[in-house]
Amino acid sequence: MEATASNDDYEHVLAGVMYVVNNIPGPGVDVVDFESEYSTGCSCTAECHSCSCTRGSANYSDARIIDENSSVPIYECNGNCTCQSYCGNRLVQNGPLNCLVVREAAGKGLGLFTTGTIQKGRFICEYAGEVISLHEARRRIETNRRHNAMNYVLVVREHYGNRVAVTCIDPERFGNIGRYANHSCDPNSSLVPVRVEGIVPRLCLFASREIKNGEEVTFNYAGGLAADSVHCLSDTPCLCGSNSCFGYLPYDPV
Ligand SMILES: C[S@@+](CC[C@H](N)C(=O)[O-])C[C@H]1O[C@@H](n2cnc3c(N)ncnc32)[C@H](O)[C@@H]1O
Ligand SMILES: [Zn+2]
Ligand SMILES: [Zn+2]
Ligand SMILES: [Zn+2]
Repeated sequence: MEATASNDDYEHVLAGVMYVVNNIPGPGVDVVDFESEYSTGCSCTAECHSCSCTRGSANYSDARIIDENSSVPIYECNGNCTCQSYCGNRLVQNGPLNCLVVREAAGKGLGLFTTGTIQKGRFICEYAGEVISLHEARRRIETNRRHNAMNYVLVVREHYGNRVAVTCIDPERFGNIGRYANHSCDPNSSLVPVRVEGIVPRLCLFASREIKNGEEVTFNYAGGLAADSVHCLSDTPCLCGSNSCFGYLPYDPV
């Protein structure tokens, strides 16, 4: 189990949703900025241990994330690096697990499930879609709220010193398999921003514990924000069913 899939192995069963393997630039995002590269790559010859890409300490060990709560950003080796394709600092770029299926998820609409055991730390899949500006994210979230519709817009804030990087992804109309992942107040995966070739991070789900065959893959929509702060709860009842459920879906106060 735990083999990676070509993203081509997945498709949407819903008419009107276009499968995209990676993020694409959407409204409010400058295409030049979106495509700009952040580094010239490392000059390692085989595997990377301590180089300009890993920034001194490894991100992954044996294809598992070492620290899903790391306060330093994760950069993977990319096409500008001279290391080999088997370099351990290349994980997310190799694609999602091949054991993911989309099924009805009791009252929550569709959900993302696994047909095999996923070990703790493994990369599951990206939450990929249109990268949109914060302004566009606000507009779409508000439209979804007014129409009482499902909301796919995810706003992630990374705090690095006194700098905050905000990334808004909407996989509603253009998205990958990750768009079906539901929220849980006691989730089994974590969303971690990983930069591969550009400055816009890929929002990546990593197993935060072993996930058993047949289990639903979930993450906390509030991400790093404290899900226990009342003002971050929406008026959509949470059906995660966990003992620690906060009662309502959390949201980022955009
Ligand atoms: C990113 S989508 C997840 C996939 C979605 N369930 C579907 O059918 O396509 C987010 C939406 O799923 C629903 N959802 C996700 N987690 C939920 C939960 N714990 N309880 C109730 N509804 C949930 C909400 O409608 C939310 O706006
Ligand atoms: Zn290197
Ligand atoms: Zn490198
Ligand atoms: Zn809950």
